[in-house]
Amino acid sequence: MKNIDSYTHLRGESIYLDDVPVLNGTLFASVFDSPVAHGKLVSVDITEAMTVPGVIRIFTAKDIPGENQIGGIVPDEELLASTHVHFCGMPIALVIATSDEIAKAAVKKVKAVIEPLPVITDPREAKEKGELIIPPRTFKSGDTAMAWSQCEYIVEGNTETNGQEHLYIETQGAYAQPQENGAIRVYSSTQGPTAVQRTAARVLGMSMNFIEVDTTRLGGGFGGKEDQATTWGVLCALASFHLKKPVKYSLHRMEDMRMTGKRHPYSSDFKIGLTKELKILAYEATFYQNAGAAADLSPAVMERTLFHCNNSYFIPNVTATAYSCRTHLPPNTAFRGFGGPQGMFVVEAAIAKAAELLKIPASAIQEKNLLKTGDEFPYGQKAESEANECWNKTDELYNIEKMQSDVELFNAGNKLFKKGIALMPICFGISFTKTLMNQARSLVHVYTDGSVGISTGAVEMGQGVNTKMLQVAARVFSIDPSRIKVNTTNTHRIANTSPTAASAAADLNGKATEIACREILKRLRQVAEDEKILIADIGKTEIPPFEIKDEWIYVNGKKTEWTWTKLVMAAYIKRVSLSELAHYTPPGIHFDPGKEKGHPFAYHVYGTAITTVTIDCIRGIYEVDSVKAVHDFGSSMNTMIDMGQCEGGIVQGIGWMTMEEIVYDKEGKLRSNALSTYKVPDIYSVPKEITIHPLETQKDNLAIFRSKAVGEPPLMYGIGAYFALRNAVKAFNPSAVIPYDAPMTPEKVLMSLYQPPNA
Ligand code: MTE
Ligand code: HPA
Ligand code: MOS
Repeated sequence: MKNIDSYTHLRGESIYLDDVPVLNGTLFASVFDSPVAHGKLVSVDITEAMTVPGVIRIFTAKDIPGENQIGGIVPDEELLASTHVHFCGMPIALVIATSDEIAKAAVKKVKAVIEPLPVITDPREAKEKGELIIPPRTFKSGDTAMAWSQCEYIVEGNTETNGQEHLYIETQGAYAQPQENGAIRVYSSTQGPTAVQRTAARVLGMSMNFIEVDTTRLGGGFGGKEDQATTWGVLCALASFHLKKPVKYSLHRMEDMRMTGKRHPYSSDFKIGLTKELKILAYEATFYQNAGAAADLSPAVMERTLFHCNNSYFIPNVTATAYSCRTHLPPNTAFRGFGGPQGMFVVEAAIAKAAELLKIPASAIQEKNLLKTGDEFPYGQKAESEANECWNKTDELYNIEKMQSDVELFNAGNKLFKKGIALMPICFGISFTKTLMNQARSLVHVYTDGSVGISTGAVEMGQGVNTKMLQVAARVFSIDPSRIKVNTTNTHRIANTSPTAASAAADLNGKATEIACREILKRLRQVAEDEKILIADIGKTEIPPFEIKDEWIYVNGKKTEWTWTKLVMAAYIKRVSLSELAHYTPPGIHFDPGKEKGHPFAYHVYGTAITTVTIDCIRGIYEVDSVKAVHDFGSSMNTMIDMGQCEGGIVQGIGWMTMEEIVYDKEGKLRSNALSTYKVPDIYSVPKEITIHPLETQKDNLAIFRSKAVGEPPLMYGIGAYFALRNAVKAFNPSAVIPYDAPMTPEKVLMSLYQPPNA
């Protein structure tokens, strides 16, 4: 079925934060943020800003009635700076005015005296100075120290992956409205309505039940609104609390880019050991995560880096250590893949470096080491693996060797254009790595006219989760989808939600919706019995005694005179509840952070992609010719949506790996602070071809209707583009020594093409 939002999206009728009708008397907010990355905040002068006509109030840390604290995992982040600033862009004062323009103009007149302190932007330097967000963690299996002596080949190196700007089309924002008895409603463009609610309560010194957070939909989140939407929601709530007026803040793109964190840059070391037969025996990795100035979600992101350090490969001896390093950049945060891509890049670099040394294609090593069913991950869980299946299907469909030899043939015949090819297998664990977060609730109402309303904790951000929720109810009730409405995500209807993240929203909220619908169905069946439509069970038979098919009630396989609506009305007349609030939590998952062992994931998603690129060896520019993948969908609930997730993820991954270049200067100031200085893939730079072949598997895993989660995994196919580009450069300049430093921008390509020998 079509995405239920396609009609209103196309007509511009979908309601994002900025489309929520504005109440009379609404005031507008803008933030004065630190121009300095690290320093002592001596004083803030608001006198001149207050004289701007239309300015109502300017709030600082002193105006916070509760706790000046927004840190979720670690309480280390102030909402408004009190005594020190820790990054350029850190909010210091909140200007409230009668219009958005006035607020933004007045911000320019706020003055702060800040005594500068030393700035750290490099994670390794932070680690040297003992600036860690949390103690380091190590995942270990086998014994690498023992294994090196059995290795024929040992390769060492280091890698860099840069950050990534989320660039959701809708910037961050919120709109707070005062309610009766001091309560506050906050419309928030957030992936985590409960995080906004909890933090607002903490900052205002109120209880959570007095704060209602409502999220209609997001114009993209990509992880950037999992934790970092909170600031804006809470700031609006703070102003609304004091002024008893509605307050709205919708960030300008440059405010958003400057003040919010991004994907974590990582600097990493690796050592890999292989046998003569190319089996990877041992792997060591050390990750230096650039966390930025506060913890935010960094500890969880760092953990997922460790979970995915071996990507799709079985390696018997692994030692992986990660450091979350405190620097003076805006706190970095969740971004599609959540640290997984950063971990996977390093093992791919290690394999590529070994392959370059052995003068073989990396695929020869990759293929030999793919996870098989029963293989143990370094964290103790065993693979139920589709890794080989995906790889083999890729080979069967696209003929890997033929594609490789075609590239060689092209390169032999062309001097000024070179092609490169790379394979990228993926393996991504589905579940929040923090076990307790894997819970969800769904509230289903059936109305007396037979229509259905669903509320869950899931936030629609373009990934199609609302369509999937609707499909679940339509399937369980066997009614027309047009009868079903999925409502906004609201903390008054669904409490204590986990953010819509970890690709798990459809699974968790879908399962809760399924349970709620089945419970109501059970009651309807009882009504059918009471109404004597359903006579006694006719015993053991394949035919279900009671069934709804396309809105008709069937008994013992025979169509009755009863419709869905008639039965619903009968239930109502009999005073049977037509509503259900269901709770779901996936069974069997657990993790012991002390031992770093357990079974943290409900299941894994696998896939393999082949990426081919062509570089222009005069100019250093390039095109991605094609990405051909076999992707493990389980049994997709919605092919159109899932294909869209694959295509979007791939392009976003390629952007991260090739052209998106975040630049902070040594003073911690963002240089790539607008769309003119930060390049994301546009229609001209997407691959000329993306082909996704669905690997349909029927395993009875914990996915909703066996349809595996799809939101994040495809992003990691993009890593293939980086290695394909390297291979193309090498075809032109075999002696080039190219550091494993992503993104591979046209500038870096050009420099490597003409790197003199022995440089
Ligand atoms: N797709 C769109 N169009 N917009 C988004 O913001 N976010 C991604 C992914 N796909 C995103 C998206 C991220 S980071 C996650 S975790 C998942 O969607 C979350 O949704 P799901 O759990 O329903 O897959
Ligand atoms: N993935 C995404 N978001 C999260 C996770 C995770 O594992 N844990 C906490 N937030
Ligand atoms: Mo996605 S990074 O888990 O919001």
